[in-house]
Amino acid sequence: MRTIAELAAAARDKLDPAHYDFYAGAAGDELTLRANEEAFSKRVLVPRVLRGVGKRDLATDLVGSPLSMPVLVSPTAFHRLAHDEGERATARAVAKAGTVLVVSMAATTAVGDIAAAAPGATLWFQLYLQPDLCFTESVVRRAERAGVRAFVVTVDSPVFGRRERDHRNGFHDLPPGLVVENLRDGSGEVRDIEMSAELSWEHVAWLKRTTALPVLLKGVLHPADARLAVEAGVDGLVVSNHGGRQLDAAVSTVDALPAVAEAVAGAIPLVLDGGVRRGTDVVKALALGATAVGVGRPVLWGLAAAGEEGVTEVLERLREELDTALALCGAAAPGELTADLVR
Ligand code: FNR
Repeated sequence: MRTIAELAAAARDKLDPAHYDFYAGAAGDELTLRANEEAFSKRVLVPRVLRGVGKRDLATDLVGSPLSMPVLVSPTAFHRLAHDEGERATARAVAKAGTVLVVSMAATTAVGDIAAAAPGATLWFQLYLQPDLCFTESVVRRAERAGVRAFVVTVDSPVFGRRERDHRNGFHDLPPGLVVENLRDGSGEVRDIEMSAELSWEHVAWLKRTTALPVLLKGVLHPADARLAVEAGVDGLVVSNHGGRQLDAAVSTVDALPAVAEAVAGAIPLVLDGGVRRGTDVVKALALGATAVGVGRPVLWGLAAAGEEGVTEVLERLREELDTALALCGAAAPGELTADLVR
């Protein structure tokens, strides 16, 4: 079983260079992209010993969805650039692993087709709330009909981040044959995703009224926003900087996490994504207050390297590394990790 770094190298060999850059790249000078991984490396673990950790259980629950381990798949666009089976392959691997796939609104497969291809997969759906709320509602209903269990509203994108690799490569459009399937309107026409700079807490209230499913906000870094989210009745937060693809120079997610955790004080669960590459990264994030982490690029590397099997390799590798790291930290379950283990 390969490490995530080895799978990233294998993916780079297989992918069209412009597509590789679309996945690997981020905004501006890519400061935040690097900071996410560096912030994990900077932190060290201070393990406990002699704690009888022979029986370990990685399972957890997030807003009513069971997870066999505290690692889910963050929403990423365009899986069919990585592999012909695209999101279907990702969802099958996620079903096998017993975790959650957050289907991107910018997926290259319709959410209903993903669900049909991967019976038993727990799917959540990521939304960019579109200025046309009628259209947004139709997308919400389609996702509900496909059986998704939660919505994740991405709130860090009032405008597109400036992804300079894509500009240099002239990568703007999907290759012929691929479209953003979830953006089809009633007439079958595929709409462009619009980033909406007008979004406000009223739109979050609108979505809470529109669906009975749990609503999480993705892209919250400031503790004041975390408090507002709790007041707004949001069901969970994803502490995320979009993998460095939106605001370059934004704080790394593991640096942002402790203040957000303090602000919500356990009222709602936190997921962290950005830079998680090792089981020890998962341990650090959980110890600092996350209930689970999300992985974005690692799943794309697995998918590009070996399709469904490659995604399985990524998830099972992380599970094994996490299990080892938990035992070595003296914890039998994710819930036993505490902030004193991280320095
Ligand atoms: C993303 N991300 C993202 N987020 C989102 O809310 N909707 C989306 O459609 C996408 N698309 C997307 C495409 C690609 C190629 C990447 C790399 C990322 C952000 C994603 O959900 C997550 O926040 C980051 O990928 C986490 O960082 P790592 O794990 O990639 O370091």
